[in-house]
Formats: sequence, structure tokens, C-alpha cells
Amino acid sequence: MDHSNYVIDEMISAKSIAARVETLAKEISEYFAGTDKLIVVGLLRGSFMFIADLAREFDLPVEIDFMETSSYGNSTESSREVRILKDIRGEIEGRDVLLVEDIVDTGHTLNHVVKLLQSRNPKRLKTCALLDKPSRREVDIKADWIGFEIPDKFVVGYGIDYAQRNRNLPHIGAVRFIE
Ligand code: IMP
Ligand code: MG
Repeated sequence: MDHSNYVIDEMISAKSIAARVETLAKEISEYFAGTDKLIVVGLLRGSFMFIADLAREFDLPVEIDFMETSSYGNSTESSREVRILKDIRGEIEGRDVLLVEDIVDTGHTLNHVVKLLQSRNPKRLKTCALLDKPSRREVDIKADWIGFEIPDKFVVGYGIDYAQRNRNLPHIGAVRFIE
């Protein structure tokens, strides 16, 4: 099958994303109110736009850090093996940490990274995912805050790619392959 021809059907508008981000940031700020510092850990590369927008709405002192795990490569198939390609730079022991992911699909990535960060004894570790595809779940895990629940469709935009393309779309769209 030739995967080079596809169109993108808009699923979530830039406006809806902005409104949801504002609400999430408010809830997260309330939860962590009074913290000396919230360490926001973004999973590269898909969360870069989400984390940039979220961070600007936080009413808290924040530190931004990043981690990168192995991903799909150039296919749309999920890989069960999660490898850490880049670890965070800072120490999180005794700190408040928010892990930010673009999509929770099978759940393997979030599960693996949460276990790893938890083993470093943060004070509080919470998770936030822009998108959740519950119908694809293979590991019983759910993010503490979720932007949008979506059906089992391959999506791009707002940081999320297909074969490294379409990350710069301001909205989220579903990939539809054509002949
Ligand atoms: P999981 O380990 O199966 O939960 O996969 C999570 C990762 O797969 C996410 O961080 C995304 O990078 C990637 N992923 C899952 N679904 C999609 C999608 O629809 N489009 C692009 N990437 C996706
Ligand atoms: Mg990812």
C-alpha cells in the first residue's frame, strides 16, 4: 500500500485547543497551588507546542525539561518497547513534576516513563496528555488530565507528526489515505 498520498481532515480546531489548554492550565495551577516550583517534563517531540501553550497559562513558578523516547519511526504502528533516547537534565527528587505527553495510545510510553520518574522519588508526579485514544489501550493507565478523548484515528498537527511532517499545523486533523 502506498502511504504517500493522504489528506488531513480537521478534527479539533485551533480555537478549541486554545480553550481547552486554558482550562487545563487553570486546573493544574489550582492543583499545584503553593508549590515552590513545578517541573514540567515534556515528551519530545510531539508535546512541544502543547507544553509551550500550557506553560504560558500556568499561574505557578515552573521549570521546563524534556525527555525523548523511541517512537513509531515512519510507520503508524505502535512499538511496545520504549527506549529513553534523551533523559531530563534536572533532579526531580522531592519536587513537583508534571509529565506532558501528546497522545496516550497503547499506554506503553506513559507507563514506562511514569515508572522511571516515580523511581526517582518526586514529591508529586502528575500526568497530562493532550489526546487520549482509550480504545487502543494495552496497559491500564490514564493521564491525570486529558485534553480530548479521540477515536482510533491517526492524527497530526499541533506538534504531532506523521513521518516527521505536519507538526506545524495549528489544528489537529485525522490522516486519510487516498489512492
Ligand atoms: P503509546 O506508547 O502507544 O501510548 O504511544 C504513544 C506515542 O505514540 C505518542 O507519544 C505519539 O508519539 C505516538 N502516537 C500515537 N498515536 C499517534 C497518532 O495518531 N499520530 C501520531 N503519533 C501517534
Ligand atoms: Mg510521542
